[in-house]
Amino acid sequence: MGWCPLFCKGNMGTLSLVLLLLSVQWSWAQEDPLLPFSEHLDLEHKVQLKWGFNEIQGTILFELTVNTSGWVGFGFSPKGGMTGADIVIGGVGPEGRYFTDRHAGGNSMPVVDQQQNYKLLSLTESDGKTVMKFQRSIEACDENDLPITNLPMKLIYAYGQNDNIMYHSTRRGMKELNLLKYMPRVNPPNSNFFDITMVNFSVPAKQTHYHCKIMRAANSTFIIERVITNLDLVHHLLLYRCPLTVTEPFEAECYTGVDGECMETVAVWGVGGGAFEFPEVAGLPIGGNVEDFFYRLEVYYNNLNKSAGRVDNSGLRFYYTSELCQHDAAVLMTGLAVAPGYAVPPKAKSFLTYGLCDTAYIPKVLETPHDLQVFSVMLHTHLAGRKVRVGHFRGGKQIDLLAADENYDFEYQEVTNLGKTKPVKLGDKLLVECTYNTENRSTLTWGGLSTSDEMCLAFLFYYPAMNLSRCVSFPDVTSLGSAMGATDLGTWLYMMFTKTWNDTSTNQYQQTLKRIDQLVVVTNSNNNGSHNKGTLPDLSVIPSAPCMSGCATKSLALLSLLLCLAVQWASL
Ligand SMILES: *[C@@H]1O[C@H](CO)[C@@H](O)[C@H](O)[C@H]1NC(C)=O
Ligand SMILES: *[C@@H]1O[C@H](CO)[C@@H](O)[C@H](O)[C@H]1NC(C)=O
Ligand SMILES: *[C@@H]1O[C@H](CO)[C@@H](O)[C@H](O)[C@H]1NC(C)=O
Ligand SMILES: *[C@@H]1O[C@H](CO)[C@@H](O)[C@H](O)[C@H]1NC(C)=O
Ligand SMILES: *[C@@H]1O[C@H](CO)[C@@H](O)[C@H](O)[C@H]1NC(C)=O
Ligand SMILES: *[C@@H]1O[C@H](CO)[C@@H](O)[C@H](O)[C@H]1NC(C)=O
Ligand SMILES: *[C@@H]1O[C@H](CO)[C@@H](O)[C@H](O)[C@H]1NC(C)=O
Ligand SMILES: *[C@@H]1O[C@H](CO)[C@@H](O)[C@H](O)[C@H]1NC(C)=O
Repeated sequence: MGWCPLFCKGNMGTLSLVLLLLSVQWSWAQEDPLLPFSEHLDLEHKVQLKWGFNEIQGTILFELTVNTSGWVGFGFSPKGGMTGADIVIGGVGPEGRYFTDRHAGGNSMPVVDQQQNYKLLSLTESDGKTVMKFQRSIEACDENDLPITNLPMKLIYAYGQNDNIMYHSTRRGMKELNLLKYMPRVNPPNSNFFDITMVNFSVPAKQTHYHCKIMRAANSTFIIERVITNLDLVHHLLLYRCPLTVTEPFEAECYTGVDGECMETVAVWGVGGGAFEFPEVAGLPIGGNVEDFFYRLEVYYNNLNKSAGRVDNSGLRFYYTSELCQHDAAVLMTGLAVAPGYAVPPKAKSFLTYGLCDTAYIPKVLETPHDLQVFSVMLHTHLAGRKVRVGHFRGGKQIDLLAADENYDFEYQEVTNLGKTKPVKLGDKLLVECTYNTENRSTLTWGGLSTSDEMCLAFLFYYPAMNLSRCVSFPDVTSLGSAMGATDLGTWLYMMFTKTWNDTSTNQYQQTLKRIDQLVVVTNSNNNGSHNKGTLPDLSVIPSAPCMSGCATKSLALLSLLLCLAVQWASL
């Protein structure tokens, strides 16, 4: 993804990052956390669609506002026309509200579906506007519904001047949108940019190289996009903010010098990803006195051919406008601390590791801690990763999966929108679980930076920003050693290297890792950390509730449909 945080200039010379796609009429109105995305479907701005979704539960929520007091229709079309379209029609008429799930065979009146799979949540009409809020499953529930995919889809709309559902004349249209991966990619008006990149860096003739460069951010800073000059070499890159103690530029192989102090993630780009843009309400803050901070650009070169003499200028492009942001956003690294002290056994079909972020410790490192409104995540493991799930716990109970990727692919990493803003309250715990496959490996896979090592991380994009850098955990080495019967580190290492790794021993080791005490660490921007002991909670799957309780009309068509619809209205 090229990643597009964008900064906006705040008052008094401070800068904060804003999002693209500020529509001109952008207001500071309170955003509905369940409906973070919004687009006008027509050029005249009479038809507005807001939406949000929950991929874990498999549902999507819409709010359609049309400048009419007649009927309104909305749907999904295979080719953009009526043929084969999945449509909902609703309105407020003289006899009250009406709302039906329909489908169209051709350019004719859409027929009411046998099974009603759209659930009406509210329907109002006032000041010549009709607002219809409804929910459906992301999947298709019957042959007359179309599934919502994470590709651009053709959305159609139509409306009437009164409540007689009939030909809509010119009051109709189509717009193509990717609802589940919404990236508006509108060029910010009046924006300038500058780049933070490598400059004529000679990529070494070795397979894995992490190169780091510390520099001041330019005066007015607004990120936006990756600038990759060698797509075959650059696998991913990160931008970190340095603590104020770092006051000099620096360039070297990563983690060989002062660069290791700059650990507060600001921006991420991974191979295969598309552009990332912030939601309207928040922008990434390079915040505060931007000139005071140095930033570290880390580029991971995957030089498979070990070719010599390649020169690279990759990095990130920062755009800025003079717009003010509603909220400053930030990125928090959560998961399993990256360190060479844990190992995934070889020949394992499925091996689980965990990292815990316990937000109860945030107040120990910050003066003004507060809840996090999380809107996007980037999940990250290396080659052996197959799945990543982030469990969300409150008061000792799992309340959600914050995010999940059941088909993790190292070659396709990107920042994904959660579909709605999920509040993480201080005191909540986030458990990052990674599933690895090491079937084809014959030696231990250690935690570490190289592609052949492993990581288990979730980068959370949230607002309002806090001066936080990491919220991670790590299995307590002493507990692990003694649980496995080792008296010291040397004995433990010897044990790990000489063990016969079969299903039994792998399972046992996995259970031990899960059971023992964890070292739970929260670190602020100054690298001041709070270190505590903790244990890992159990993660369960949140059952998805795909198909709405529809009104099935297979047998006694009309009567039961009317009854069912009447019940839906009554329950509004
Ligand atoms: C919506 O309708 C109202 C009243 O009919 C009208 O004043 C307004 O200009 C319309 N808005 C748009 C965007 O057409
Ligand atoms: C980078 O290399 C190009 C081509 O060799 C050269 O024109 C340019 O001056 C170099 N830039 C810097 C900053 O050295
Ligand atoms: C930053 O902006 C200020 C005011 O516009 C200007 O005086 C200063 O020279 C700029 N600094 C840099 C490094 O561009
Ligand atoms: C490796 O070298 C081959 C042959 O020289 C070339 O075709 C290929 O594109 C190179 N691959 C990379 C990743 O550089
Ligand atoms: C392991 O290697 C075999 C043979 O090369 C391949 O078919 C299989 O997909 C590999 N499995 C994994 C999990 O990479
Ligand atoms: C973060 O720290 C900087 C430097 O100390 C300060 O200027 C800024 O206000 C802090 N930001 C927040 C959100 O606390
Ligand atoms: C796994 O290895 C241990 C130790 O060598 C052995 O006792 C055990 O029987 C093996 N289990 C399986 C399922 O092969
Ligand atoms: C870290 O915290 C300690 C104790 O609160 C404080 O004395 C020290 O100045 C802090 N260091 C930095 C770099 O903020």
